[in-house]
Formats: sequence, structure tokens, C-alpha cells
Amino acid sequence: MRYILGRAATPEETRAEWATRLTAQSDASRGLGYWAGFTPDDEFAGWWSASSFAGRPELSGLGYRLGYRLRRTAWGRGLATEGAGAMLAEAFACADVQRVLASTMAVNTGSRAVLARIGMAHTDSWVREWDEPIPGWEGGEVRYELERSAYDVI
Ligand SMILES: CC(C)(COP(=O)(O)OP(=O)(O)OC[C@H]1O[C@@H](n2cnc3c(N)ncnc32)[C@H](O)[C@@H]1OP(=O)(O)O)[C@@H](O)C(=O)NCCC(=O)NCCS
Repeated sequence: MRYILGRAATPEETRAEWATRLTAQSDASRGLGYWAGFTPDDEFAGWWSASSFAGRPELSGLGYRLGYRLRRTAWGRGLATEGAGAMLAEAFACADVQRVLASTMAVNTGSRAVLARIGMAHTDSWVREWDEPIPGWEGGEVRYELERSAYDVI
């Protein structure tokens, strides 16, 4: 959460976030939504998503969204990359998904490395306004994208 809120989310924030994620941003009938991931020995590792930007009108016309958040014990094992690659496959299995996007703070080098490893390209950077600025905010945000035509040749 260091690069997301700069602190743990409260139960109310978590409930509000997931209420949108699991309704408007998910469409299970098309295979879009949020996945819980487990390690080979059945430990909960974290979540991954291939979902829409419903509720974010500035982004919803641009494409679909890839995301992930892993427990610290699951880091450094290649699991984030493996799951993120599976999310790309899930998104592009929908015939109308032309582009997948992901964004993170510029200073989040671990997350940026995952996006680069699955073939996404850094396409945009910007500095946003924060209600509660967190360390690294001044470095801004980065967006990574992958077009269906590029995915087809990976
Ligand atoms: C961002 C985040 C997912 C990155 O996790 P990660 O463990 O670094 O990424 P991966 O699962 O792809 O693992 C890659 C690392 O595992 C190592 N690794 C070990 N065994 C491996 C294997 N069998 N296969 C591949 N990589 C392996 C790699 O060498 C690499 O280590 P390095 O970065 O020191 O070179 C994780 O830090 C996280 O969940 N952070 C909190 C949430 C967050 O920031 N989300 C994104 C915000 S938008």
C-alpha cells in the first residue's frame, strides 16, 4: 500500500473499493473481474485483475485494466508476473478488448518491472493531485499499455 494510499486502507475504504470492483468493473460472464491467487502450497498470494474502468469516465473509453496486489510473502517468486500474464490472456480472450492499460507510481519499480516483463509499453507519465500526498508523489504516475495487435505477436 506504500504506493497506493501510503497507509493501510480502512475497512470502510476497502468495502467501498471492492463494492465497485466486484460489480460495475467486473463481468464474470465475459471472464473479466478479480482473481484470488494461491501459491502451489495453497497459501493465499494476492489478487490479480482484468477488469473495466467503469466509474472512471476519463479512462473507460481507453481500454481494460490490469492490476495486482500481492502479499509480501509472495514477492520475489515470479508470481506477480505469472498472474499478470494470465490476466492479459483473459482480457484478450474477449473479442472486443483492443487495449489493456495499467498504471502505477513512477517510483514503484517492482510493479513497473512486472508490466515490462509481460510486454506492456510505458506510454504516458503525469503528476496527479493527492488529497494525502505520499512519498514519491512528485515523481508522478506512469501508464503502460498493450494493444491486441502487439499481444498477438508476443
Ligand atoms: C509489484 C509487485 C506485484 C511485484 O512483485 P515481485 O515479486 O517483484 O514480482 P514477480 O512476482 O514478477 O517476481 C519477480 C522477482 O522474483 C524473482 N524470481 C524468483 N523466482 C522466480 C521464478 N521462478 N520466476 C520468475 N521470477 C522469479 C525474480 O528474479 C524477480 O526478482 P527481482 O525483482 O529481485 O529481480 C509486488 O511488489 C506487490 O504486490 N506490491 C504491492 C502492490 C503494488 O504495488 N501493486 C501495483 C500497484 S499499481
